[in-house]
Amino acid sequence: KNRNLILAFESSCDETSVAVIENGNKILSNIVATQIKSHKRFGGVVPEVASRHHIEQITLCIADALEQAAVTYADLDAVAVTYGPGLVGSLLVGVTAAKMIAFAHDLPLIPVNHMAGHIYAANFAGEIQFPALALLVSGGHTELVYLAGPNDFKIIGETRDDAAGEAYDKVGRVLGLAYPAGKEIDELAHKGKDTFAFPRAMEKEDNYDFSFSGLKSAFINTVHHADQVGETLGKADLAASFQQSVVDVLAQKTVRALENYPVKQLILAGGVAANQGLRDRLDEELKRFEDVELLKAPLKLCGDNAAMIGAAGYAAYNDKIFANLDLNADPSLEF
Ligand code: KG4
Ligand code: ZN
Repeated sequence: KNRNLILAFESSCDETSVAVIENGNKILSNIVATQIKSHKRFGGVVPEVASRHHIEQITLCIADALEQAAVTYADLDAVAVTYGPGLVGSLLVGVTAAKMIAFAHDLPLIPVNHMAGHIYAANFAGEIQFPALALLVSGGHTELVYLAGPNDFKIIGETRDDAAGEAYDKVGRVLGLAYPAGKEIDELAHKGKDTFAFPRAMEKEDNYDFSFSGLKSAFINTVHHADQVGETLGKADLAASFQQSVVDVLAQKTVRALENYPVKQLILAGGVAANQGLRDRLDEELKRFEDVELLKAPLKLCGDNAAMIGAAGYAAYNDKIFANLDLNADPSLEF
């Protein structure tokens, strides 16, 4: 038998997802049941609501994933699952389902870190080569990660406060946009100009860390002040100015890291990696680094999905990183 088949689970936040992945880089199926509609009216993810949706969706997703991939349990080599970081009630649904299937069908259980999963989404754009550096930008995390090998992750810099995606969503709320606002702000930004000169935090500091709370406050103060004096600010220019500040800081710290860490690839991953402004900017910056290939997670796989968990799971499988059936969810799991 020359193909490895992994059944992968992702349920850390507000998407229930099950995928069947062949040899770590081919998607046979990737079912994603999103709950965004249910959370929109609350302006963010409500953990209790999320857990309930996961419970309702998970068995349907498993059935669909197997059917679409045209495989049965007997064809599988392993089960991979996100066990953290994330919402504990949400994580538990995926972890429990994965453990049941591993037990019932006597399959190895692969524990996957959600953030490693995001990085491995890039494996569907091209083969990840080591050493690599990853700019990992999502709703909960903003990190620069050094990968010495397939399962060797080291955080070299991270946000001191808000994650980039979190800043997008909070600023979006002030603009009256629906949650999650990242995509809409990205689109608005392309219609406006950087006219507000928002701060670029920690730009001069000699580290790889980020901070977005000052930018968020500057944005909110600008909008509130305009409200008070009865002035109407252009949403497109606000969005463009905010995005330019975020992209500048992300690009600058990434370039600094590339100057000090010789790597074969820069990987861009996480929900905010879908940002067109950021993708274009890194394309531009990487021209200076002739020996570094830019590997961007495919747009469709930037958000949470189980395909990326299957890809990370395959790397773990090759290094025989397995869990016992007492695997538990770890909401604050780190690399
Ligand atoms: O990785 P992800 O799907 O979930 C987490 O693990 O957090 O990331 C979701 C985040 C949200 O904050 C959303 O607003 C943001 O990614 N996002 C974007 C874009 N698309 C999604 N942010 C900026 N530009 C985008 N095009
Ligand atoms: Zn995520």
